[in-house]
Amino acid sequence: MKAIEIRNKYLNFFKEHGHNIIPSAPLIPENDPSVLFTTAGMQPLVPYLLGEKHPEGKRLTDYQKCIRTNDIEEVGDNRHLTYFEMLGNWSLGDYFKEESIQMSYDFLTKELKIPAEKISVTCFAGDEDCPRDNVSAECWKKAGIPEERIYFYGKDDNWWIAGEEGPCGPDTEMFYDTGKPACSEDCQPSCDCGKYVEIWNNVFMEYFKDEKGNYRKLEQKNVDTGLGLERMTMLLQGKETPFDTELFKPVMDKLHELQKIDNIQSRRIVAEHLRSSMMIISDGGKPSNTDRGYILRRLIRRMIRHLNKLQINLDELSTLIDINVDNLKEMYPELEKNREDIKLTIIEEKNKFVKTLAHGEKEFTKEMNKAKELGKDKIDGQIVFRLYDTYGFPPEVTKELAEENGMKIDLKEFNELFKQHQEKSRSGSEQKFKGGLAEQTEETICYHTATHLLNAALKVVIGKDVHQKGSNITTERMRFDFSCDHKLTDEEKQKVEDLVNEWIKDELPVTKTEMKKEDAIKSGAECMFIEKYPDIVTVYSIGDVSKELCGGPHVTNTSELGQFKIKKEEASSAGVRRIKAVLIK
Ligand code: SER
Repeated sequence: MKAIEIRNKYLNFFKEHGHNIIPSAPLIPENDPSVLFTTAGMQPLVPYLLGEKHPEGKRLTDYQKCIRTNDIEEVGDNRHLTYFEMLGNWSLGDYFKEESIQMSYDFLTKELKIPAEKISVTCFAGDEDCPRDNVSAECWKKAGIPEERIYFYGKDDNWWIAGEEGPCGPDTEMFYDTGKPACSEDCQPSCDCGKYVEIWNNVFMEYFKDEKGNYRKLEQKNVDTGLGLERMTMLLQGKETPFDTELFKPVMDKLHELQKIDNIQSRRIVAEHLRSSMMIISDGGKPSNTDRGYILRRLIRRMIRHLNKLQINLDELSTLIDINVDNLKEMYPELEKNREDIKLTIIEEKNKFVKTLAHGEKEFTKEMNKAKELGKDKIDGQIVFRLYDTYGFPPEVTKELAEENGMKIDLKEFNELFKQHQEKSRSGSEQKFKGGLAEQTEETICYHTATHLLNAALKVVIGKDVHQKGSNITTERMRFDFSCDHKLTDEEKQKVEDLVNEWIKDELPVTKTEMKKEDAIKSGAECMFIEKYPDIVTVYSIGDVSKELCGGPHVTNTSELGQFKIKKEEASSAGVRRIKAVLIK
């Protein structure tokens, strides 16, 4: 059965059972800056799960486009996808466990014709917040699942909540037995040896978890279910991976035909990231340096790295996009509508990235020569990490380049730094889920980098005693206060402006290093309030012209800034002058 048939069967089945079909919400949540992308079918329905009346009634069904990017680096194995489609049905204070379980059982066994013996289920084992879900287990037995294929697990497996707070509850999950031999006597659905694959999750949302971690009962008992379409398609077709189904096959075949080096993982990464990027762009996404745009940028850039790995000419991107649009337009008509915009966006990003890679290679050569001069045969992990973090150079590329030059890389140190970085960004994104988006836009990031350039230019033109006294950035302009005992002459202002623009034209790389605070100061890095910083600090350098302690973020190259223009120079307070400036793009 093809994916589209599964989708249609699902929607029709639930329609016949009194559900209204609602359209998929866009991947980019409307009016909700607290999450980056729609990650589950329930997400656009939160207000209704909490009690608001839905115009389409109490029984709803849909297919929802979803993006989950926690594990971008794992795509390429046979399971992980960043984009997937979730089929779902909801009861907003209407039916509950019994009807929900019976409908799921009937859909799986009668509509999809999965033999009942292949289905195992799991239920919530109970704890201090919520009792053991014997009711669901009884419903499963009544529907036709024998006791020995009903398992009970705790919150880690059988409790569902999006993020840290919100509507939630115990769930019951359905697993498909692939027929592979059990890995041990204890092999169960919770085991990830591959014998059991989770296919559907019915959440009985009757609780709300508040920000303090306390649970209370909701006024209505809801059901929220989610069935992953790609996975179900793969299982019903007896395929090993979603990449072997018709959803990916045309593009996978083309990659196989075009590749000069065989690498199945790279083909999967390209096919997967291409589809995700196209879906995000057709819902209005644009690559940038922050948040949603940054995820899209990472997806496109990772795809390009793997096209390079396969030695496929990047000019083929347009053909690959066409193949995907043609293959998927029946399921997603918006792809056809946005075909040209998708191409333009991806190709423009490719052009930018090719430039960045060239900068990165230059940087690598510089670092390698330095290491050689010092008699080293290994490139420091810190440098490997900087190349990764700033230039998007994966360690395997750096390793390859190093080996071509008879050198090695310190992969162990790189891995440690990478882990630290991941932990940091994970806690960052958790905070984002809680606290809404930080006020970082592409514009403010550019102004932030321009502030460093202005600081450096003032030191060259006015003198080394100029120090930053304050800064304020909006999306429209920058304001910079600095110590200086006189009003700047027109000539001085012009010189400062020219110098900043010269550095922008020079396409200087912006790089980030972590080091001990005392080493940073010794190395001559600028810093406004030394006591404000922790013992390990981040130092941003712009070519050889600027080095400052700073939390970032910054652009990766000054060429991204546009033209710098001073609008005003005035007194701020005694001995402190103020410059207002803009970047014109
Ligand atoms: N919200 C649940 C999930 O994402 C069921 O739809 O798994």
